[in-house]
Amino acid sequence: MNASDLAPLRPRLPSPLEQVDDERFARRGVRLLLKRDDLIHPDLPGNKWRKLAPNLRAAAGRPVLTFGGAYSNHLRATAAAGRLLGFTTVGVVRGDELAGRPLNPSLARCAADGMRLRFVDRATYRAKDDPAVLAEILRDAPPDTYVVPEGGSNAAAVRGCVELGRELAGAAEVVAVACGTGGTLAGLAAGLGPGQRALGVPVLRGGFLGDAVTALQQEAFGGRAGDWSLDERFHHGGYARTTPALEAFAQDFEARHGLAIERLYVAKMLYGLLTLVEEDAFPPYTRVVAVITGSEDGSNPRTPASEGGQSAASSR
Ligand SMILES: Cc1ncc(COP(=O)(O)O)c(C=O)c1O
Repeated sequence: MNASDLAPLRPRLPSPLEQVDDERFARRGVRLLLKRDDLIHPDLPGNKWRKLAPNLRAAAGRPVLTFGGAYSNHLRATAAAGRLLGFTTVGVVRGDELAGRPLNPSLARCAADGMRLRFVDRATYRAKDDPAVLAEILRDAPPDTYVVPEGGSNAAAVRGCVELGRELAGAAEVVAVACGTGGTLAGLAAGLGPGQRALGVPVLRGGFLGDAVTALQQEAFGGRAGDWSLDERFHHGGYARTTPALEAFAQDFEARHGLAIERLYVAKMLYGLLTLVEEDAFPPYTRVVAVITGSEDGSNPRTPASEGGQSAASSR
């Protein structure tokens, strides 16, 4: 297979758009639709496909090196792409203490897909964008390696997410998406048409995301693109943190709609949307799309928000 031709993977694009009947939204005159990006591909669901596809085309079969935490969905998707398309993958994993331990299920899957894992200490990992540090990391990598940043969010990835917005032309006034690095939001907003706006729900604490999205749009489009905003209230303690209220909400949503809800990102976005609806933040007749950016496979750890600060066990 030609490793830069992704058509043989048969992605389901455009992804389906499904209306859901939810009385809590209907009562306020708001229509809820789910953009089922989780159905694009079983191994590269949601924004993993949208962000990786343009990078894999650019890599054109060269080895791909990328970065992630011990439970990184992005590492898993990259490893799976390598197996499916037949190119070499290298995963640089945060935490050299992991090197001597048995692999967790997520990293074991990466290894089974042929990914070479390289564990680095946290200081090196933090400094990975420094050209000297990156050069050192690349010393052991195969020649001509193509580097994809943590979370897969670079300019090519952001441009890949534009299509998500375009697929929603005329379908809604508001499109909500969960944010980690902000790459998906940056591209989505740029692809929406007049009268449409994107709403980002950060799952990390810290208030840095507005600047990150602005910088990604600058890099990808040369300036701010589309109408977008953030609501920073729904992180539930930070990355991979949860609260009883979030868990109860997610279980109830699953029971109402027969759909497993990915907890680290998607549940927080849907929780935020319901809160906004109950605050009458949307006028009657508003059509709101919730982007289902990933699927729940139960493999990610979650820590109660009451147990300290933001988790270091990032899944990005
Ligand atoms: C399921 C899911 N939704 C949303 C996001 C956030 O994407 P981004 O980092 O582009 O903001 C991620 C992270 O990659 C994710 O795994």
